Amino acid sequence: MQLTKEQKEILIGKKGRILQYAMKALINYGDSMGAKEFIDIKSAHTSFISIKYLAMIFLSKGIQPTEKDIHEFYKEISKIQVKTKTTINPGIIDLEKWKEIGASKETRKMVIDSTKLAEKCRILPTYSCIPYITDNIPMLGENCAWAETSACLYANSFLGARTNRESYETSLFSALLGITPKYGMHLDKNRSGTALIDVQCKIENLCDWGVLGFFSGEQMGLGVPVFKNLQRPTVEEGKQLASAMNVPGGFSLFHIVGVTPEAPTVEEAFKGKTPKATYIFNELAKEDIYKRINHKPNGKVDMVFLGCPHSTLKEIENICSYIKGKKVSKGTRLWIMTSYPIKASAKRLGYDKIVKESGGEILSDGCLNMYYSYDAYRENMPNLSRVATDSVKQAINVKRSFRSNVVLTDTEKCIEIAVSGGYYD
Ligand code: F3S
Repeated sequence: MQLTKEQKEILIGKKGRILQYAMKALINYGDSMGAKEFIDIKSAHTSFISIKYLAMIFLSKGIQPTEKDIHEFYKEISKIQVKTKTTINPGIIDLEKWKEIGASKETRKMVIDSTKLAEKCRILPTYSCIPYITDNIPMLGENCAWAETSACLYANSFLGARTNRESYETSLFSALLGITPKYGMHLDKNRSGTALIDVQCKIENLCDWGVLGFFSGEQMGLGVPVFKNLQRPTVEEGKQLASAMNVPGGFSLFHIVGVTPEAPTVEEAFKGKTPKATYIFNELAKEDIYKRINHKPNGKVDMVFLGCPHSTLKEIENICSYIKGKKVSKGTRLWIMTSYPIKASAKRLGYDKIVKESGGEILSDGCLNMYYSYDAYRENMPNLSRVATDSVKQAINVKRSFRSNVVLTDTEKCIEIAVSGGYYD
């Protein structure tokens, strides 16, 4: 790759070994993707789990770093500040309600320590997968380096920003250096549609948007889908579509004609190219996906989980309108996941009180999968034998991670299940 004078200096270690490591890693990454140069970025979205984990990325070379290594690494990295606005994906605890989710004091301390380090590096410790709603909102055409597949799809497809699907490591290296390899979604030639998805059935609720996303991922796998005959989504519907597509697929961008900034018409979405295929999404295809995901749904439900991707304030308001004055059944939990700023607003507006009085919880800073995929407190995890959710991504995640039986249904029905304590078809 062609490097500027400054990039060459970083590469030979003139700005310390941490930036040197980040530069080497980004060059290897760029070379493997065929990039010829770097471009400046306007924002990054990454992950920041623990100082030890970070030290392992930068220092380990295949071996566990010693306490002394970690200490020295901490001193060094805490002097470096990111070069661009940077936010963090959900972590492993709710920083306020850590006891409710069964986290240990040690885990809490670990997260607080890494949060303080993030602040020193000027990384915003947002711990949310919807940075595009509250904290990190790129403008049309801006280059970014984002991890979190659903957020990348949202940023490219609805905001017209430009990011590849970065890993937590590459997004962090990019944040520290303010650059990313110029390839993939950063180039016009890769942003045209490749296949058409013709929507021939009604998309009636949030869950249906996720099912459409899952269908696209299963049918196409890769490429840039162009949705035809699809109504305008709300922000909430758009995030369900984006989050479900990359469960079976590997997309960075889709076009909804009349919604995606680059796709005012079908022709412009394809930029003069011919679609390689057309896929029909109809009632039959929709029902088939519901049937496959809802495998053995009948029985007592242990957890009703809403907020994947994290809930907006509007979603929490809707949930409150369904749950107000009702009680969550004994033996069932109702968890609503969101970002910290939205949780704070929900408190101010009295939504938190409504959910609490019903027996549910609004949680932040993580998600079901992140909370219990971390071994330190897995033994304290709630029973997840059967989980109800309105999110396709979460449904598949709990199936894979916790072998749960899943009820995938719309938000209102999820609340009915929380109140009755089970699903009986
Ligand atoms: Fe967000 Fe966790 Fe879902 S990170 S997209 S709530 S699986």
